[in-house]
Amino acid sequence: MNKSLINIAIYASGAGSNAQQIIRHFANSPKAKISLIVCNKPGAGILQIADKEGISTLLIEKEPFFQGNAYIPELKQKGIDLIVLAGFLWKIPPALIHAYPDRIVNIHPALLPNYGGKGMYGRHVHEAVIRNGEKESGITIHYVDELYDHGSTIFQARCPVLPDDSPETLAKRVQELEHRHFPQVIEDLL
Ligand code: GRF
Repeated sequence: MNKSLINIAIYASGAGSNAQQIIRHFANSPKAKISLIVCNKPGAGILQIADKEGISTLLIEKEPFFQGNAYIPELKQKGIDLIVLAGFLWKIPPALIHAYPDRIVNIHPALLPNYGGKGMYGRHVHEAVIRNGEKESGITIHYVDELYDHGSTIFQARCPVLPDDSPETLAKRVQELEHRHFPQVIEDLL
């Protein structure tokens, strides 16, 4: 481990497009390094990205994550300083929150406190935003506490919801905001 750099672990369950942007952003950073990818889904796209980028991965299982040590020893062994959730769908257990106070951040594809909470992820978020006739959506980057999508807000960016939007077209506009802002917001936190 290189202790002159801040070591970041990215947690992701899915395709990993945000993780990819973050990895790219920090590739030659003098400040921070993406040292670990943590994933709960064998076969997830993020694992191929990690493989291609030569980043270590940790595939985690429910029982040790929620009832055991939450894999904290593995994080400590890698010298992880900051945890970034980029499309990670499991709730973060209290033990992990206490081990990394104010050092876990999440991105959510809507303007919290609206359209967050259990079950509000991916397409479900954009469907609800459109169903309610919202004129605006966006992204929220926030600290993680023990409730879903609840910790204090670090950053928000907005985009319009257009009259003919489908969940897919809105998702694309929101994802562009995520890719544009998430890496820089992480850098500003370091
Ligand atoms: C993003 O929309 C993020 O806001 C949400 O999950 C999605 C992850 O997408 N929490 P990707 O795996 O980064 O492509």
